[in-house]
Amino acid sequence: MASEHDQTMTNQDLRETRGRPENPAAGTKSQTGQLDRRLSVAPMLDWTDRHCRYFLRLISRHTLLYSEMITTGALIHGDRNRFLRFDPAEHPVALQLGGSDPKDMATCARMGADWGYDEINVNVGCPSDRVQNGRFGACLMAEPAVVADCVAAMKDAVSLPVTVKCRIGIDDRDSYGELVDFIGALAQVGCDAIIVHARKAWLKGLSPKENRDIPPLRYDVVRQLRRDFPDLCLAINGGIKTLEQATAFLGDLDGVMIGREAYQNPWMLAHADRIIFGDDDPIPTRQEVLEQFLPYAERQLADGVPLSAMSRHLLGLFQGQPGAKAWRRRISENAHRPGAGIDVIAPPRPLTLPADSPKDAP
Ligand SMILES: Cc1cc2nc3c(=O)[nH]c(=O)nc-3n(C[C@H](O)[C@H](O)[C@H](O)COP(=O)(O)O)c2cc1C
Repeated sequence: MASEHDQTMTNQDLRETRGRPENPAAGTKSQTGQLDRRLSVAPMLDWTDRHCRYFLRLISRHTLLYSEMITTGALIHGDRNRFLRFDPAEHPVALQLGGSDPKDMATCARMGADWGYDEINVNVGCPSDRVQNGRFGACLMAEPAVVADCVAAMKDAVSLPVTVKCRIGIDDRDSYGELVDFIGALAQVGCDAIIVHARKAWLKGLSPKENRDIPPLRYDVVRQLRRDFPDLCLAINGGIKTLEQATAFLGDLDGVMIGREAYQNPWMLAHADRIIFGDDDPIPTRQEVLEQFLPYAERQLADGVPLSAMSRHLLGLFQGQPGAKAWRRRISENAHRPGAGIDVIAPPRPLTLPADSPKDAP
C-alpha cells in the first residue's frame, strides 16, 4: 500500500492535483496516439510515490512513470485521495493495482481513470507474504484465468490501456509452456501490454528483496515470448542499468522498464528523452532539476508534507559529483527535524557545474 505523509486536502488542492488532460507535460503519446512505453520507471512500493515521480519527471519528460502498488482494499475502503492524488506534471503516469477480484479491479480501474491516470497496471510480480495472503501479486501466475478475468473486467470499465506486470514463473511452475499459457490468456482478452520481470519468484523461502536478486535473469525467455507473440506489446524488466542496454532491448521489444537504478541513480534518465525518445530539447543540469523541484517542495511543505517525505527521493541526484556526500549528509541530518525547510535540500555552491560538464553525463 502506498505510504503518504500528508493529511489534509481542500477542494482547491483537489482541482490542482488531479491529473488534467491539458497538462503541458503530457506530450508523451506516440504519433499513433498510443502511450509511448519505450522507457518506464518501475512501480516500487515506498519509492515511486508522487513526490518521487514529480522529481523524476523533471529529469525526463517522456519516460512513463508507474505508481507504487495500491491494493483494491486500500482504494475501496481507505483514503482514496491519499493514494491517488498526483500532480499533473507527472504525466504520463500509470497506476498499479494489487488485487484479484475482477469486480474490485474494475471499480479501482475506474477510479484510476477518473483521477486522470494514463494506464492501469496489474501487479502479478510481487512475492511478499502479505500479498500472497491477499491472493494477488506473483502467486497469480498460477491462475491465468483469474488475471485474464480481471483484465477483461477492467477493459470493460475503462478506455485506458490495461497492462500486466509479471514474472517468468513461480516456484517449480516455471516451464516455458506455463508462461505461454499465462501470456496467451492475457493476449486473448486484449491486454494492452505485458511487462515481464525476467526472473522467476520463489513464493516461499526468499524475501521480496532476495526475489529481486537471487533467481537468475532470463532475458532469453522474454526474447522467446517476443517470437511467439509477435503482435503483443511486450516490455522487459530486471537488472537493466543503462540507456545503452535499454536501446539494445528496444531492437526486439516494445519497452524497457527500469527499477532500482532509476531510483538510486536518477541521473541515468537524463539523456533518455534524447536517446530513447528522439527529443532534442536541452537537457537540464542536475542543479537546474533541483532548483525546479524547490517550488514544488515549498508548496508541499505548505500543505503539511514533511521535507523528509520528499528529500529521501533526491539523494541519488548528485551521485559521484563533488560535494555530493556533504549534501546528502546535510539532508540526512536535517530533513527530519520539525520545521525543516527547502534550504536543507538546496545544493551548496561547489556542486554547481557547467551545463556541459562531462561529469554531468549519465
Ligand atoms: C523498493 C522496491 C519496491 C518494489 N515495489 C514493487 C511494486 O509495488 N510493484 C511491482 O510490480 N514491483 C515492485 N518492485 C519490483 C520492481 O518493479 C522491479 O520489477 C524490480 O526491482 C526489478 O527491476 P530492476 O532490476 O530494474 O530494479 C519493487 C522493487 C523495489 C526495489
